Amino acid sequence: MKERIKITIKNIAILMGAILIASCGGKEEKKEEPIIKRAKKEVTQKTPRTKMTAGQKAFLLCAACHNLKKGEPNKVGPNLNGIFGRKAASLADFNYSEALQNSDIVWSEDHIRKWLEKPTDYVPGTTMAFIGIKNKEQQDALIEYLKEETK
Ligand code: HEC
Repeated sequence: MKERIKITIKNIAILMGAILIASCGGKEEKKEEPIIKRAKKEVTQKTPRTKMTAGQKAFLLCAACHNLKKGEPNKVGPNLNGIFGRKAASLADFNYSEALQNSDIVWSEDHIRKWLEKPTDYVPGTTMAFIGIKNKEQQDALIEYLKEETK
């Protein structure tokens, strides 16, 4: 009987030790940076923020989820190469929401502006989790940037 109690206490001690080690290890481990922060860092490493145009700065809001150049992979969002004039939800290798697939949008400057204002209002049911850009100048700068960079 005594022996059994001893064993249990020993087991508890081992268990607590293991928990302690596990929790310490957890603290040491660096928390993963949020995806948006990481993307911003990637972009700012290429071009320092102070040298960025307004459009480049605005695109920092999109860079976590979108590539712009031909041949680059889709991220959380589809590659935006050739977006002007492209039918919405038309990339074969991206899993779009039904809402965007069912929209009749062909992306023009006007559509993109309204989309940027608040995607979830413009196409209810879209999976683009982005709060929107209300500032008109920022919209202009971003649209100009997209026109250049998605050619
Ligand atoms: C959190 C990730 C995320 C961010 C940030 C984001 N997008 Fe998106 N975007 C998506 C997803 C996901 C879709 C696909 C939506 C769907 O299927 O409903 C999408 C779709 C789009 C489309 C339509 C593409 C097509 O092929 O029809 C455009 C245009 C677009 N985004 C532009 C932008 C711009 C510009 C920004 C920055 C202001 C931005 N997005 C920010 C995730 C994101």
